[in-house]
Amino acid sequence: MSKHILMKENFEKLDQFIVMQKDKKGALIPVLNEAQKIFGCVPIEVQKKISEGLNISLAEIYGVVTFYAQFSLVPKGEYTIGVCLGTACYVKGSQKILDRIKKEINVEVGKTSPDGKYTLEATRCIGACGLAPVITINEDVYGRLVEGDVPEILKKYE
Ligand code: FES
Repeated sequence: MSKHILMKENFEKLDQFIVMQKDKKGALIPVLNEAQKIFGCVPIEVQKKISEGLNISLAEIYGVVTFYAQFSLVPKGEYTIGVCLGTACYVKGSQKILDRIKKEINVEVGKTSPDGKYTLEATRCIGACGLAPVITINEDVYGRLVEGDVPEILKKYE
């Protein structure tokens, strides 16, 4: 993990946010969202800070971070590839698309490639069922895909 992510300034921002949320009910999720935004991930050092700030056990926080796909323990790759496994996409073969992407970039679901280039995620319905099966790469959306489209799409993100 590069050092700059955990710089003091980021912790100060997080602290300010924690102070604002502290007395509210269900503060943990908003604080984790903010941490994910500030640091790009929620590593243990950040979880410790949140644990102290909100007086919630580290075990509980770790459980939440690892349960929800929107939080990651390590920084995400330059490109986050999301493959929709919602019902509409699934019946139209998104699993095959996912398997092909896995093979092409050699990354498992939920993981980031060692060079920090790709993060691969399986997502729920993203509300574009008319385009099923759908994948997203950062802000770009690709729909009505067949497995054979995958290499060409990935080429744009090499
Ligand atoms: S199920 Fe994939 S976009 Fe809705």
